[in-house]
Amino acid sequence: MVDLRTKYMGLDLAHPVIASASPLSKDLDAFKRLEDANAAAVVMFSLFEEQLRWEQESLSYLAEVGAESCSEARSYFPPVERYQVGPDRYLELIRRATESVRIPIIASLNGVSHEGWIEYARQIQQAGAAGIELNVYHIPSGLEESGRDVEQRYLDILVAVKATVTIPVALKLSPFFSALGHMAKQLDEAGADALVLFNRFYQPDFDLESRQVSTNLELSTPSEIRLPLLWIATLHGKVRASLGATTGVHSPLEIVKYVMAGADAVMTTSALLVKGIPYLAQLVAGLSEWMSTRQYSSVAQLRGSMSQARVADPTAFQRSNYIRLLESYRNPYVSR
Ligand SMILES: Cc1cc2nc3c(=O)[nH]c(=O)nc-3n(C[C@H](O)[C@H](O)[C@H](O)COP(=O)(O)O)c2cc1C
Repeated sequence: MVDLRTKYMGLDLAHPVIASASPLSKDLDAFKRLEDANAAAVVMFSLFEEQLRWEQESLSYLAEVGAESCSEARSYFPPVERYQVGPDRYLELIRRATESVRIPIIASLNGVSHEGWIEYARQIQQAGAAGIELNVYHIPSGLEESGRDVEQRYLDILVAVKATVTIPVALKLSPFFSALGHMAKQLDEAGADALVLFNRFYQPDFDLESRQVSTNLELSTPSEIRLPLLWIATLHGKVRASLGATTGVHSPLEIVKYVMAGADAVMTTSALLVKGIPYLAQLVAGLSEWMSTRQYSSVAQLRGSMSQARVADPTAFQRSNYIRLLESYRNPYVSR
């Protein structure tokens, strides 16, 4: 019998496989289906800062112009249907979900500033969430904003949320830091309970027929695990915070790799969107089977066994490996 138990951001989980933030957690029924599919925990879809700002601005506008101008106010602000749900429904969903399922529910706040938005962290805790994942979805497109400013933004948000709640707080990180290791160290020292690697930015494309920027969503592929894998393997054993892996988990093999790199929890969304929520149970069973076939008795034994600190050749994660790769490269299209 393989012991799949793990501890992630202070939470005791039955195994490492979690449903990451997505519409998969959109309603109560979905939470129940995720629990039935053996999810160890669920990260809820994000409550976006824009939704909160919309509500706050809308309310103060209504207060100024009077209730009779309601229709005018509605046309002034972007239609609320554009957003997933408002804060009240989000908090209500947490309340009802925590009453209906036994697995931990991690709420998600997605924003870029720390005003107002962070106040909701307190309400999320009161609603019963077991933890909060902060997704600082920020593209520093302003040319005045320096790398140090960007780092400070993350730190300020984390410190403010940590000062507000007592439940654990995870940070879902972007890979685009010039010194990710140092950033991770700073967040770790500032009290992050987990670092989730990585946030997947939805880069725009161009529709050449309509000449418009298209923002259609592309689901991940297993080959995308490589960047998070590199950094989880690099950070394992060097930070106190738990490490959560997200991106590219489509089969049990990606889960094995992430845990071997050093992940405490491994998340999936794209695979469940394609194959359905029940597929999560197959992922967990596949992890257990892979381990028992190879005589691993626990996730603790597997975790970090291929981290940078533990592999026979730690330079395999570094530049020297790049040179070796180029030396051995033979272009199949060029005859020699
Ligand atoms: C349709 C969809 C909606 C998502 N919504 C959120 C969200 O609200 N908040 C968030 O932090 N991540 C969100 N994500 C990102 C996922 O949580 C996950 O990090 C990403 O899809 C990579 O994992 P995967 O390869 O398993 O899909 C979303 C992803 C998809 C595909």
